[in-house]
Amino acid sequence: MSNKRSTFAELVSSRERLLAPAFAQDWPNLPVVRAEGLYLYGLDGKRYMDFMSAFGAVNVGHNHPRVIAAAKEQMEKQVHGAVGVTLHESVLRLAEMLPEILPGAMDMFFFGNSGAEAVEGCVKLARNVTGRPGIIAFLGAFHGRTYGAASLTAAKASYRLGLEPFLSSVYHVPYADPYHSSDPDDPSRCVEESLDALHRVLGRLIAPSQVAAIVVEPIQGEGGYIVPPREFLEGLREICTRHGILLIFDEVQTGFGRTGEWFAAQAFGVTPDVMSIGKGIASGFPLGAVCARSELMSRWSPTVHGTTFGGNPISCAAAIATIDTIRDESLLNNAKRNGAYLLGRLKDLTTKYRVIGDVRGIGFMIGMELIVSGTDREPNSVVAKKILNESLSRGLLMYPCGQHGQVIRVAPPLIVTRDQIDEAVSILEQSLASSTQ
Ligand SMILES: Cc1ncc(COP(=O)(O)O)c(C=O)c1O
Repeated sequence: MSNKRSTFAELVSSRERLLAPAFAQDWPNLPVVRAEGLYLYGLDGKRYMDFMSAFGAVNVGHNHPRVIAAAKEQMEKQVHGAVGVTLHESVLRLAEMLPEILPGAMDMFFFGNSGAEAVEGCVKLARNVTGRPGIIAFLGAFHGRTYGAASLTAAKASYRLGLEPFLSSVYHVPYADPYHSSDPDDPSRCVEESLDALHRVLGRLIAPSQVAAIVVEPIQGEGGYIVPPREFLEGLREICTRHGILLIFDEVQTGFGRTGEWFAAQAFGVTPDVMSIGKGIASGFPLGAVCARSELMSRWSPTVHGTTFGGNPISCAAAIATIDTIRDESLLNNAKRNGAYLLGRLKDLTTKYRVIGDVRGIGFMIGMELIVSGTDREPNSVVAKKILNESLSRGLLMYPCGQHGQVIRVAPPLIVTRDQIDEAVSILEQSLASSTQ
């Protein structure tokens, strides 16, 4: 395919003419011609360090040779086969491998094409199996853009604008957010506040016996890279067990090594009943899955859900190679060790720059929250945007999150080295300095 558009202006004007604003009107629309490992190569001839990993979809880096080889090999054999009508080896092999890395002896799967589809599947499974309507989700949650997933999503009001009515019987309660609780110095306070609100909902709005599932991101992604205290997830686990409610972890963003464990469930030591996974599973090839133990999964009636492309042979082959790569290159270890190093380097900046309100994270899922200096946690999306633009102009791509876009997510692929981290932190510091002077 020839490259017809050779300038940034040509690309932007084509984008505006051809692509729906809902699809492509975002930041920064960086024109990229090639990607490899940590790096994106721009149309402008510059090399960019990718510290957002396509929202956590390329945890082993861009175009990992092993993933590409596996996908090519599969493509030569068979591009597609609709599972159920035909069967192929790569979907079965992947289903055999996943239990080796998942928590809670989950050993049965429904494969789809994306994170949102995985969340949809989890909700359908929960309602179908329990016969209950209620779903509890959290303020700040992001679960995707399809209607069921969007009904659970509460990261920004703008994501829900003009879309009502949503799925019924969905109730949102506050997430355990240590930095934004009534006492940021006492992490247990946010747990109490969230679980109290949940108990009030269960006491006054919907009886626990009518709730099918509590759906939660073990670390909120789009909501602001918020790491809750372990006791929050333990509290949810206890409530679910007591009332026969399914605990669903949405690990679409936290999975496949992002936290230094295969999944955040293992980092917190809390086991859900069901999980949605996606993004990093296949290093950029579209794939997602609903995961559960066979005792539960086999109660989900056949015909009540289905797919044409889910479990595509190429995506599954890429997923197998991704898991092998994370294992063979000790990437969990790198995320743990160098993630702690990166977190420490970023925390060091807080003493010098008063616009940094908070730095938090596990592994390579780190958020830096910007505030108006001298205020009590007043969000500063203006300075966040400046820092992001300054960093990009110096060759470092990061991306915002949080209700106001006041949090910078620092989320490199798990292959990043200490030297590359030092280079990125130095760019970020220069950008902080020039954005705050
Ligand atoms: C936690 C979480 N769940 C679900 C999704 C939706 O995934 P997808 O965009 O692949 O549909 C996302 C995407 O950002 C996510 O972060």
